[in-house]
Amino acid sequence: MTLQLQSAVSLKPFNTFGVDVQAQLFAEAHNDDDVRAALAYCAANTLPLMVIGGGSNLLLTGDVKALVLRMASRGIRIVREDCLEAIVEAEAGEPWHPFVQSCLELGLCGLENLSLIPGTVGAAPMQNIGAYGVEIKDVFHSLTALDRQTGELREFSLEECAFGYRDSLFKHETGRWLILRVRFVLSRVARLHLDYGPVRQRLDALGIAHPTPRDVSQAICAIRSEKLPDPAELGNAGSFFKNPLISAELAARIKVSYPGLVGYPQPDGQVKLAAGWLIEQAGWKGYREGDAGVHRLQSLVLVNYGRATGTQLLALARRIQADIVERFDVALEMEPNLY
Ligand code: EPU
Repeated sequence: MTLQLQSAVSLKPFNTFGVDVQAQLFAEAHNDDDVRAALAYCAANTLPLMVIGGGSNLLLTGDVKALVLRMASRGIRIVREDCLEAIVEAEAGEPWHPFVQSCLELGLCGLENLSLIPGTVGAAPMQNIGAYGVEIKDVFHSLTALDRQTGELREFSLEECAFGYRDSLFKHETGRWLILRVRFVLSRVARLHLDYGPVRQRLDALGIAHPTPRDVSQAICAIRSEKLPDPAELGNAGSFFKNPLISAELAARIKVSYPGLVGYPQPDGQVKLAAGWLIEQAGWKGYREGDAGVHRLQSLVLVNYGRATGTQLLALARRIQADIVERFDVALEMEPNLY
């Protein structure tokens, strides 16, 4: 089947903020040939190409004068296995949470802490998604990407992806690499990460002393559902800001005025602050301005109550950033990609 191009398509269903802007052209890529056809079309018509996955880390601030290509390729397969572990490959368009569940059903452990994260497999390496003490770099094997400049396929190893906190090579070389499929090394033997306080507490509350990977997944789904809004009910893009890394000196200075400061010392001597705590202290938790707001339970999440525009959400984010600089001398970096 050839690539189906549609013009003047609303992107509201394709971004979890639910912002209503239009794409000049829109298409879905079900395989590598569709991706190549989209690239060829854009080259022939001198039109930019914007690739999206689940649209869950995206803030759209106006109509998109480009071909918006939604990755919709599907497929999950074990490419190598022994009695201890398996390498699982998934196509970029696979929705993330169902992929995690499929791995658990295959008896493979390693992704359970990343349950219920919105988005797709192909977008996950972009910002090295992480939650509850695990990041995808911890279970990543390799990925295949298309070089948009040369049209060639390239394999990336763990080291080559240069993963960091919500960061990777792909975030820096924007527009060059188009991720087609990702491979993970998963274990047949449960090696659970339960150190993140709320996870252990939730399992204890359920009376589970010896959890299975599925128990951990269920506990994490319960924690996330309590604290984080479901994009199907309230538009949002998860954490809107990264947790900032600051010097130990600045952390000590803030602590003088705010003894309850939530910070985690890092191996390099810096301190990672809970941005949600800073925003809450500054009085923004539950704040609403028109349809743009700060979630009432988790200050790190900006929400769209219905008709907020990307520009309104961005204006609110900038006011919060300015306030946090003024109060704490801390710069908050936005997590979603802006268009
Ligand atoms: N906190 C507050 N007020 C708030 C929010 C948080 O005081 O409004 C405090 C909490 O009490 C806690 C600390 O901040 O002591 C950390 O909060 P939480 O465990 O909810 O995690 P987070 O730092 O707010 C990060 C990730 C989340 C991830 C959770 C769990 C980032 C930017 N966010 O949030 O990721 O689910 O940890 O691991 O690193 C995402 O990236 O979209 C995302 C949701």
